[in-house]
Amino acid sequence: MKTTISHIKADIGSLPGHTTVYEPVVKEVEKYVKDHSEGLLSDFHISSVGDDLQITMIHGRGIDSPEIHELAWNAFKAGTEVAKKFGLYGAGQDLLKDAFSGNIKGMGPGIAEMEITPRKSEPFIIYMMDKTEPGAFNLPIYKMFADPFNTPGLVIDPNMHEGFKFEIWDIMEAKKIELPAPENLYDILAMIGSKSRYVIKRVYTKETHEKLPDENVAVITTDKLSLIAGEYVGKDDPAAVVRIQSGLPASGESLEAFSHPFLVSGWMRGSFNGPLMPVGLKNAKMTRFDGPPRVVALGFVLKDGRLSGPVDMFDDPAFDGARRTAVDVVDYLRRMGPFEPHRLPDSEMEYTTLPKIMEALGHKFQKIENATVKAKKLTESTKDFD
Ligand code: F6R
Ligand code: MG
Ligand code: MG
Repeated sequence: MKTTISHIKADIGSLPGHTTVYEPVVKEVEKYVKDHSEGLLSDFHISSVGDDLQITMIHGRGIDSPEIHELAWNAFKAGTEVAKKFGLYGAGQDLLKDAFSGNIKGMGPGIAEMEITPRKSEPFIIYMMDKTEPGAFNLPIYKMFADPFNTPGLVIDPNMHEGFKFEIWDIMEAKKIELPAPENLYDILAMIGSKSRYVIKRVYTKETHEKLPDENVAVITTDKLSLIAGEYVGKDDPAAVVRIQSGLPASGESLEAFSHPFLVSGWMRGSFNGPLMPVGLKNAKMTRFDGPPRVVALGFVLKDGRLSGPVDMFDDPAFDGARRTAVDVVDYLRRMGPFEPHRLPDSEMEYTTLPKIMEALGHKFQKIENATVKAKKLTESTKDFD
């Protein structure tokens, strides 16, 4: 029987800045989901990372179910009321629309859902990031499902040897493409290296996978808040659901993709590059320079619609090295202040508050006459050499 895992997250207010979710808000959302889940959910789990509240739901209604989306929306609404009561910062921030209209997509919250054929044992990991964007998952998902230096199972396990299929979205042009790896490895990399535009949405097994043919095995939230709201309203802190083991990356192969704190964009004011630090839940609060960007991993097993777990996977000294490196990178980058490449390039500052500053300066700019002349000369002299 098919089962659906729906993970929906939103920033509905935090304490004191964009640091962490306040416990009474978590409790309210938990209570709301519990009180309204009868006949809808077989199980659920509420967690939070930084200023983002996360609802993991198990049900049989498939993806894009209006009832499931509405439940999450209303739970966030209920949580927002508590956030307002305490005057929490940015209360209701990610709930961009007033009323629910059938699908939570495009309304602010991030959504990662997949309908699966559960295996005898169905282990999976929910990854949750704060202070970064959906493209931050490109590198680790690629490593898990396509890089044998990260995932030796791709070489050793006959069930993984044929590789996986990647569904990649161009979030600027609303187009998608499906490409298999390893056949199209270089094409995949040509796109997903541009992580603010091309994002991995889903990973599937191939039809030839012996244990689990043509199944969705990973899904990532790709909702870009700035594209919905037309301006910066907080980052689109992403989450992902990744199935593991038995012909899929092992738990440790999946986690290994985060053992090197690679650079992601987001962090302070959604305007800076910084290292992604893997942390346990107890350290999932954004402090230094509103970060650094962090990722938490919660491990579950699903059986007959019920969840066991979670296990807080990065709460482990084996990731101390990655955390230390991340802090070293923070010290190094911070000395650059507002300069690129610590600060994001102009193209990515478009949706921040910086254009307002530039706009206000606009009337003070004067033409540099010679510059135009020089530019012309340059073209002319280039012509001479043709
Ligand atoms: C928000 C974020 C923060 C804020 C910063 C300024 O996701 O990452 O770094 O951008 O704290 O916030 P405001 O403008 O609300 O004072
Ligand atoms: Mg926030
Ligand atoms: Mg956040």
